[in-house]
Amino acid sequence: MSNQKQGKLICVGTGMRMAGQLTPIAQSYIENSDIVIAAVPNIFARKWLQGIAKEYICLLGYYSDVEIEGKDRRDTYRRMADTILDQVRAGKTVCAAFYGHPGIFACIAHMAIADARAEGYSAVMEPGISAEDCLVADIGIDPAKTGMQSMETTQFMIYQHVLDPTCLQILWQPGLAGDLSLKKFETNTAHLQILVNKLARYYPLEHEVILYEAATNPMEKMRIDKVRLGDLPTALLRQITTLVIPPAKAMQFDQAVIDQLNAIAEASKVSQQAA
Ligand SMILES: C[S@@+](CC[C@H](N)C(=O)[O-])C[C@H]1O[C@@H](n2cnc3c(N)ncnc32)[C@H](O)[C@@H]1O
Repeated sequence: MSNQKQGKLICVGTGMRMAGQLTPIAQSYIENSDIVIAAVPNIFARKWLQGIAKEYICLLGYYSDVEIEGKDRRDTYRRMADTILDQVRAGKTVCAAFYGHPGIFACIAHMAIADARAEGYSAVMEPGISAEDCLVADIGIDPAKTGMQSMETTQFMIYQHVLDPTCLQILWQPGLAGDLSLKKFETNTAHLQILVNKLARYYPLEHEVILYEAATNPMEKMRIDKVRLGDLPTALLRQITTLVIPPAKAMQFDQAVIDQLNAIAEASKVSQQAA
């Protein structure tokens, strides 16, 4: 007999654009779960979810927690995960829905799944279409060509990350660059100048970078604005902007490794001839 408790959690992504980017399995969980708990900013997507869910809780209002003295985004995310867990503990099948992919730059789903499993509940994540998936399609870049590094902008600024300028770089949340308070949802020119100064260790200021925003509904146009790296502090950066930095240098062979691989191939040729 299984010890699994009755409540269940399924975290799904709604994609970046509701029309067409929701997977059939995510839709089935949204329609059939006892309750849908969602943090989906697009109003049309929200209305649609509310319309088909048996019961619905919207988490967006929780973001105003950051206005309370002593609280920051981490408290907001904790309260969202706790709200999800309360419904699982009540024995319900809970579908937690997030825009894009529920597990990419979205810690709430990871927190809720870890907590649910630790308490003995079944908890799974279904993948969704993320901003990164859309930018690969919209900009027309294949991460396989040069390799890709992908990180959060403020994390890049405050940690000793090392960038490889021969790779494609994806910097998430540049619109929040440099906010150490974890209370703001914007950046400013002073913070962006510090970002540019750090990027200038790897790239010339003339290097062209891309400000990308996927369309979130079929009537909207995507944004693919190319700007000089040095002009980034005065560019328009929004909460939904992703910064894409194409490679600035050609990849260099690692001849020592190539020599080792060739030596193995040569040795196996010699042993085949001897056999
Ligand atoms: C909290 S993360 C959420 C990512 C989301 N879970 C996903 O799967 O793409 C927010 C960041 O995702 C990126 N993002 C969100 N919406 C976007 C859009 N419409 N176009 C491009 N990037 C977007 C931006 O870098 C933004 O700062």
